[in-house]
Amino acid sequence: MSFKSFMEKFKEIEAEDFKVLLAIESGMKNYEYVPFEKIVEYSKLPIDKVEYRVNRVSRLRLVRSITSPYRGYCLNYIGYDFLALRFFVNSGFLEAVGGPLGVGKEADVYEALTPEGDVAALKFHRLGRISFRQTAKVRSYGKPKTFWLFRSKIAAEKEYEALKKLYSYGVSVPKPISQNRHAVLMGKIEGIRLIEFKHLKDPENVFLKILENVKLAYRKAGVIHADLSEYNVLLDEEERNIQIIDWPQYVTINHPNAQQILERDLKNISKFFKRKFNLEISFKDVLDFVVLGKPVKKVQIFLQ
Ligand SMILES: Nc1ncnc2c1ncn2[C@@H]1O[C@H](COP(=O)(O)OP(=O)(O)OP(=O)(O)O)[C@@H](O)[C@H]1O
Ligand SMILES: [Mg+2]
Repeated sequence: MSFKSFMEKFKEIEAEDFKVLLAIESGMKNYEYVPFEKIVEYSKLPIDKVEYRVNRVSRLRLVRSITSPYRGYCLNYIGYDFLALRFFVNSGFLEAVGGPLGVGKEADVYEALTPEGDVAALKFHRLGRISFRQTAKVRSYGKPKTFWLFRSKIAAEKEYEALKKLYSYGVSVPKPISQNRHAVLMGKIEGIRLIEFKHLKDPENVFLKILENVKLAYRKAGVIHADLSEYNVLLDEEERNIQIIDWPQYVTINHPNAQQILERDLKNISKFFKRKFNLEISFKDVLDFVVLGKPVKKVQIFLQ
């Protein structure tokens, strides 16, 4: 669905449509497809209204349905998106949504506007999107059915927790604004992914700015990114401002494999700078800088 039709569709949703969507959402804790009678029960609407509304939300493609072995409905991603959007709008966090900022493997990110006129980024987590077919296979073995919905919600909650903690310690991450269901609303970063830079004026400076933030996250917030790479660092044209994004998989320093995970993050990013910008800094120095706060030679030069 194009983005424009996404927003147009959102505006078409009426209060009773939302009642039915909310009833289906509640039922999905217990059912893969929520029986029609349960939707009647949860929504507290008369049966004929529910009849009308489930047909409407089906036609708008916000839910999927089955007719056998019983008549049942479940939310699809758009239905779930709309419930989160409704929360942000009603709570006064969101005024409008714009075009896509990035469509990743496990999330869709859109530009957004707050009522105060600040530009924001709205990230919908989409875990399990790629594996709908796989889910269908798992289904026949009686495993959890509506896993994508819960996993995506947990990812959003986790990312929001990380952003709040990191932001409060001054780590360069997007400003957390709000979170609901599988969605995180945060400040928009001006910049593009590090992977997209063909040249850097001062690769060492950029690398050290990243390390400074990894150090701050580790030593002050007790947080390790766990998926640090040139894809999750945003940088502006002037190379002044680096920001580390995409935190749902973070671990704390108490994690049993914390050290290993930190080293993997640092190796990833070091290798990228070596490969692309020929920057050579001993890995031990990098690690000592982040873990022990020991200034490496290059860092001293940079700081002078
Ligand atoms: N706060 C933000 N401000 C501006 N752009 C953002 C912001 N957050 C995410 N983006 C854009 O959206 C893209 C996807 O975001 P993110 O990396 O958080 O999700 P993802 O699904 O894990 O992506 P991938 O699977 O590609 O790593 C980013 O590469 C970036 O271009
Ligand atoms: Mg990413």
